[in-house]
Amino acid sequence: MTGEGPTSGSDLPDGFTLIRLSIVDSTNAEALRLAQMNAPANTLIWGEQQTHGRGRRGRTWDSPFGNLYCSLLTYPTKPADQLAQLAFVAALALSDGIAAVAPDISVEIKWPNDLLVGGRKIAGVLLEGNVAENSKRRSLVIGMGVNVSSHPENQGAIPATSLAREGANVSVNDLLVAATHGLERWIGIWEAEGFAPIRTEWMNRAIGIGEKVEVRMAEKTVAGIFRHVDDMGALVISTVGGDHTVNAGDVFLIGPGEG
Ligand code: BTN
Repeated sequence: MTGEGPTSGSDLPDGFTLIRLSIVDSTNAEALRLAQMNAPANTLIWGEQQTHGRGRRGRTWDSPFGNLYCSLLTYPTKPADQLAQLAFVAALALSDGIAAVAPDISVEIKWPNDLLVGGRKIAGVLLEGNVAENSKRRSLVIGMGVNVSSHPENQGAIPATSLAREGANVSVNDLLVAATHGLERWIGIWEAEGFAPIRTEWMNRAIGIGEKVEVRMAEKTVAGIFRHVDDMGALVISTVGGDHTVNAGDVFLIGPGEG
């Protein structure tokens, strides 16, 4: 792993410190290592390439040069059962970041935090946390990956795309700065006002509400109508057997709802 000095940190919000790495195993892994060393909150790791990029649910995240891979180190003080809400915070922040640098592209959110363009995945968010051995402070790393100039064949089980494929010629650096401003804004709203405004805005940007979805979980698959996300961020679907609340899984749209 080689380190390089920040070349563009001055455009970041106040209090954010950029660590730019030409290559790293995973920016999330690096941020978690820094947390063990008590690095300050709002340390932002930017890797130009990752050798072991991590995706949700144990998947790998292809990480060639030319796309955005970054992780923000935070030390949230809210109760542990509220921290999954940061996945929704990050999705809003990243979709605002993309909108700022590629205003012609319309980004939608698929539960909980996949960003799609025209049904294809363009970005993902991975939250990872631990508790520092020496301070017992809980860290939460918000990892964000955006396909800027290239995309894999698929990302998860859905087709992928990139900003370039969608016709937007975007600088990774500018996107990093815009996404970080988005994080500052939406984390601030979450800290000051709680999950309610996050949930409302997330629902405005989400796909599939009121439609038939299939949710693939580790142990089973459930199909039903996607009703809403609840106060904690869980997906609520109604099936013939009643309502199901889902905390982790992959959502697939399979058709219109019953009206
Ligand atoms: C997903 O599966 O949708 C989440 C993908 C998250 C990828 C990003 S790239 C930067 C950060 N470092 C990682 O190893 N993963 C996240």
